[in-house]
Amino acid sequence: MARIGLIKAMLAAGLCSISLPLIAAPIELSVNTTAPGASINRDVFGQFVEHLGEGVYGGIWVGPDSPIPNVRGIRSDVVGALKALKVPVVRWPGGCYADEYHWREGIGPQSARKSRINGWGNVLDSNAFGTHEFFDFLGQIDSEAYISLNIGTGTPQEAADWLEYMTAAYPTSLAQERAANGRAEPWRVKYAGLGNESWGCGGGMSAETYVGHMTQFATFARNYHPEQYSLRMSGKPAAFPMQMVAVGQGPGETAYTEAVMRAWQTRVPYAWNINAISLHFYTGVPDVLANSSDDFGEDDYALILKDTLRMDAMLAEHSAIMDVYDPDKKVGLAIDEWGLWLKPTGANFGFLRQEQSLRDGIAAALNLNIFARHADRVRMTNIAQMVNVIQAMVLTDGPNMVLTPSYHVYKMYIPFQDAAVLPVIFEAGEYTHNGVSMPRLDAVAVRAKDGSVWLSLINVDPNSAMEIDISAMGFNAKTAVGETLTAPAVDTTNTFGAPNRVLPKPASARADKGELVLNLPAKSVTVVQLR
Ligand code: AHR
Repeated sequence: MARIGLIKAMLAAGLCSISLPLIAAPIELSVNTTAPGASINRDVFGQFVEHLGEGVYGGIWVGPDSPIPNVRGIRSDVVGALKALKVPVVRWPGGCYADEYHWREGIGPQSARKSRINGWGNVLDSNAFGTHEFFDFLGQIDSEAYISLNIGTGTPQEAADWLEYMTAAYPTSLAQERAANGRAEPWRVKYAGLGNESWGCGGGMSAETYVGHMTQFATFARNYHPEQYSLRMSGKPAAFPMQMVAVGQGPGETAYTEAVMRAWQTRVPYAWNINAISLHFYTGVPDVLANSSDDFGEDDYALILKDTLRMDAMLAEHSAIMDVYDPDKKVGLAIDEWGLWLKPTGANFGFLRQEQSLRDGIAAALNLNIFARHADRVRMTNIAQMVNVIQAMVLTDGPNMVLTPSYHVYKMYIPFQDAAVLPVIFEAGEYTHNGVSMPRLDAVAVRAKDGSVWLSLINVDPNSAMEIDISAMGFNAKTAVGETLTAPAVDTTNTFGAPNRVLPKPASARADKGELVLNLPAKSVTVVQLR
């Protein structure tokens, strides 16, 4: 009998007192490897890049003449780090910026590009990084495109032209223009976003007004790429169809989801379609100025993690509405902006730069596990933002670059891309601090595409390690091997001077009397493969 079962039986029989150190007893965790559920779309591990602060300029684009090593103006250290992350998809150019972006200003000779004021930080955007540079960047990191179309200040014609420019294979005028600008082959556009936060910075539209615009854009925004085009009413889907993403809202705000789904259910099918609704949820908003990113204690740690767990309720809330109109789950959810939005630390508050602590890594993992549990509806997410902005993967400062705790978590989760979720059962109780409670342990198990079985285990408690007794139905596990991410304090950061304070360390289970026992340090994220 497993030890915790024995202790329970002894307790029931009155053979021991409750003062036994129950808290130190191993937690039994059981995985059923014979009952795979929904697959976690690899695009759930997607990223978001906006022309905001140093998210593009300085962070990705340094220009071909920069002393910072680069390939065609795109910095090589950042490319190297992101390529190792196997980023499946990148959303660009915004964000709020998308609804002010005019693609023609970002093509053609660099010297002739039109510069504009970028409202984020009130600075100049030279448009040096445009469509060709974005796709060059995607090629260098080996990722796919999620293009946010401009509904706020653009027209359906402008959006249609941009898609034709990017995707048409034969020599239309726009395809010829693309070739003249250096790219003969069309690019694939995996996702097209139909506006951004159209209820707010994207135009302040009511849900009904948005649906009126969205349906028009969705009808005319066509993808002509040979792998992506499907003849209308041919009944033959494209090999790699473009997915359209409509705007939704966030926690407790469901008017857009209702209106978009109602329109989708009654649409003229050959005119338009959508494949997902976008939701945004930033942990810590609106009190960003109250939340330090690198100098906080257990109070703020507990509050922010509790806040981030609201992601689960938001997904359930919007999924329930979608189930009414779409019980077959043809339309997915795309959480195309999320992350911990904390008090900015840079000189320009509008640049939304913040330090990155262990807490960010733990929050990232908690959210990735929530997405896994909603894999039947959540098809893509894009953490905000990939470089230098909000909850970033990498921070740069001139020629220097540092990998953040969130980066390490995303790397540890690579085996979860396209993996099937497995049932997992455990009972670990609550972590409570100052009246704030949440589950002490979070766990997700998956079967990866190559058949291997993986576990992600998050010990939220910043004060106590825990031991896990792992059992796997349908899998003769002899050991579990992987990595653990933790640090001395919840607010420990990786900085340019000390880049490796939050770094994954090897983790492995020990065999103990026929059981597999894994130690989870306090405040840690552990990912292991059963072997
Ligand atoms: O990610 C920063 C901003 O947050 C985006 O531009 C906008 O869509 C959201 O409000």
